[in-house]
Amino acid sequence: MAENKILTTQTGTPVADNEHSLTVGPDGPTVLHDHYLLEKLASFNRERVPERNPHAKGGGAFGEFVVTEDVSKYTRAAVFQPGAKAETLIRFSSVAGEQGSPDTWRDVRGFSLRFYTPEGNLDIVGNNTPTFFIRDGIKFPDFIHSQKRLGASGLRDADMQWDFWTLSPESAHQVTYLMGDRGLSKSWRHLNGYGSHTYQWINAEGERFWVKYHFISQQGVERLSPEEAEKLAGSDADYYRRDLFESIERGEFPSWDMYVQIMPYEEAKTYRFNPFDLTKTWPKADYPRIKVGTFTLNRNPENFFAQIEQAAFTPGNQVPGTGISPDKMLMARVFSYADAHRHRIGANFNQLPVNQPHAGEVNNYQHEGNMRYHFNSAEHRTYSPNSYGQAGGPVADPIKGVEASWEADGTLVRSAHTLRADDDDFGQAGTLYRDVFSAEEKARFHEVLGGQAQAITVDRIREAFFQYWTNVDAELGALLRANYAA
Ligand code: HEM
Repeated sequence: MAENKILTTQTGTPVADNEHSLTVGPDGPTVLHDHYLLEKLASFNRERVPERNPHAKGGGAFGEFVVTEDVSKYTRAAVFQPGAKAETLIRFSSVAGEQGSPDTWRDVRGFSLRFYTPEGNLDIVGNNTPTFFIRDGIKFPDFIHSQKRLGASGLRDADMQWDFWTLSPESAHQVTYLMGDRGLSKSWRHLNGYGSHTYQWINAEGERFWVKYHFISQQGVERLSPEEAEKLAGSDADYYRRDLFESIERGEFPSWDMYVQIMPYEEAKTYRFNPFDLTKTWPKADYPRIKVGTFTLNRNPENFFAQIEQAAFTPGNQVPGTGISPDKMLMARVFSYADAHRHRIGANFNQLPVNQPHAGEVNNYQHEGNMRYHFNSAEHRTYSPNSYGQAGGPVADPIKGVEASWEADGTLVRSAHTLRADDDDFGQAGTLYRDVFSAEEKARFHEVLGGQAQAITVDRIREAFFQYWTNVDAELGALLRANYAA
């Protein structure tokens, strides 16, 4: 039988006793020079890193992405060329709850997907809904505060949520999704993912397109009933995390098909509503889904903390052939995520194995900082330009590099946030309710909204709630008012 390895301190010194502190005689006080005791307690005190502010509770797995179609006329990204394969990492999450919160509280679900591509990491950090609650990043902290806990009591609060939503009418479309079946998925395997924002693709000729990402679950989209969800919240807070982990352990590997909607660059200037407005979807009749490939999750993390908790996804991680759009929210996110990572994980978070690219090298003039592990070679200068030629360090490549994108097109960018003929806050929410929800979905939706109306304790906010739903659909508003007005 193989012998156990010898216990050591963090610097490799063998430890003689892991159960008794060093004391002055058998019954005397503990001494300060018990180096191992001090190291062990100090290390324990530093085990927790701050949880993610939104999306704190989650889980994830690794997988493989395979391109099955040819979309090379839209993008030159190596990862999307015909037949290409890439390792992937996914993290699913809830938005509002803390790390220990039950998976089955009604919420939007995060869908963060990383492609470890030959040209660096590409992250698509989306949700299981194609829209969002707000359209300007300056409102994001207020939005998240309204979903979390009251400052005074530390309690979650329906008044606070509905106060914010009803005073932010652009939330109506997303709130309609949230109060519908998508707010309570059967599992993380049974939901679709969406990049939600408009992104950009650039082909080998330099031609640009606007793009929306869709990831359609091969397991189907299924829901939990509110009763099941409530029971599970009490009996198995980690229900989704367990389901994903156990299904992969059993060899049942979940898969998603990747599609894109493509809008030619120029059409963004004249499309009937603002195509960069994240509170809206692009109708499939105008921009049909085009298949790209499939990804399959086939490997659980070996260490949840190292590989899932310390994973640092950001929509700023783009590769040559992909890019962001002038969506105000997306631009705010490009700042916000890496800033959160520096705070939550540390300055050199991208050097952790889960965040390092899998192919290619990292070469630049950034150096030092807390917990630096990889360093530049001895000859490599720490500044650029320098006169040391090849030994001096890396040089930028205008052909291979990520392209400067729409900022070149001043008119488009300056008009990106101007409202157009068909721009309004309630139109698509009303269409979703009237034309997309089945009769059964509508009935469940009425019941969920009834529960919400009853949870509101402030008359002014309840009145705003009825008006909000009347704006979405007059009959819906009237029905809610008739059944639930105090
Ligand atoms: C301007 C608006 C937004 C800001 C400022 C923002 C900010 C953040 C921050 C700071 C985190 C925590 C990151 C970390 O600690 O690793 C986070 C997580 C996340 N956000 Fe956002 N967010 C915004 C909008 C959105 C939108 C529109 C979506 C989806 C379409 C989204 C999806 C997610 C997801 C999925 C996560 C979890 C990432 C992970 O799995 O590690 N966020 N967000």
